[in-house]
Amino acid sequence: MIDEKSNNQPIIDKYGRKHNYLRISLTERCNLRCSYCMPENGVILKEKSKYMTSEEVIDIAKVFVNLGVTKIRLTGGEPLIKKNVDKIIIELSKLPIELSITTNAVNINQFIPILKKAKVKSINVSLDSLKEERFNKISKRNYFQRVVSNIKLLIKNNFNIKVNVVLIKGINDDEICDFINWTIQTKINIRFIEFMPFDGNNWGWNKKISYNEILRKVEKNYGSEGYIKINDNTNYTSRNFKLKGSKGSFGIISTITNPFCDSCNRIRLTADGKIKNCLFSQNETNLLSALRQKRDLEEIIRKSIDSKHYERGGNISFEKLTEKTIKNRPMITIGG
Ligand code: GTP
Ligand code: 5AD
Ligand code: SF4
Repeated sequence: MIDEKSNNQPIIDKYGRKHNYLRISLTERCNLRCSYCMPENGVILKEKSKYMTSEEVIDIAKVFVNLGVTKIRLTGGEPLIKKNVDKIIIELSKLPIELSITTNAVNINQFIPILKKAKVKSINVSLDSLKEERFNKISKRNYFQRVVSNIKLLIKNNFNIKVNVVLIKGINDDEICDFINWTIQTKINIRFIEFMPFDGNNWGWNKKISYNEILRKVEKNYGSEGYIKINDNTNYTSRNFKLKGSKGSFGIISTITNPFCDSCNRIRLTADGKIKNCLFSQNETNLLSALRQKRDLEEIIRKSIDSKHYERGGNISFEKLTEKTIKNRPMITIGG
């Protein structure tokens, strides 16, 4: 579905940011139930026809690639439980893009040959605790052993692994140094994520651990000479560091206290086919309906990105946000 009439100009917003990174959520379902992501009573799923089929995912992705998207990340829910995910991975890998995935790794062992065939190099895995009982409590399922052994399997198979740790005060913030110690002998990137507010996730200012708090803990444990700042990628989410002499590294994703919107290059496509031009945007554009009506997607995409706010979906009063004033989908239906 490469559109011959496209002028192939990149997608640039009114702040001059080139949008070349598409995050596609493949499903709103998950095999875990992490409280910071999935509301306590779950989410009401829509009828099947409201979600993109694998063919529609591929067709829409091709339109974005034609508009200069060079990186696609598959997210969820848990992307690897989407029907025909193998086909999606293989078809997307034929496009001129870097393909990656964010997963809980519960069943990724079954996908290693496909991921290799698709030349996926980098995989982001969620793991919020190194303690079995605690991990199982946070995720409300009993897959700790599987996730840890699958991370080891991925490393053995030469994938670059980033581990996402959502820090919640009083729940897992005592494990920051345990996670960092993992990087001493293992080529892995641990990223500590400030707990972010979404519908139904019981967020509160008092539950987040800030960028500065994390660094204070690091300094206390390893000393100010014990770690160094390393380069961040362009369009980074995490500011990265490493312990001197370590094989791996660690980073901090600080949307709340130290946002990184200046260089934002991200577009989100939800599993029900809506463009979300920012993680926190309240406006959504129904691309799936437009595809089904055979309308011109390029114009719709450009218009959506043109209306993107500079920072955090235009939540200029982010600092005043409370659990009750959050207006966003539950995270499980966005995909991070
Ligand atoms: P890379 O492509 O490796 O840079 O991955 P990533 O950090 O973009 O993706 P991942 O899915 O691993 O997300 C890690 C954390 O970053 C999650 O908590 C996401 O919600 C958050 N995140 C990802 N993209 C954005 C973004 O555009 N804005 C903000 N504020 N947070 C984001
Ligand atoms: N705050 C911060 N990060 C979150 N994630 C899910 N919910 C939240 C939240 N409320 C992260 C998970 C996953 C990534 C896609 O988003 O760690 O790895
Ligand atoms: Fe981009 Fe919005 Fe994330 Fe900022 S909060 S980096 S503008 S998606």
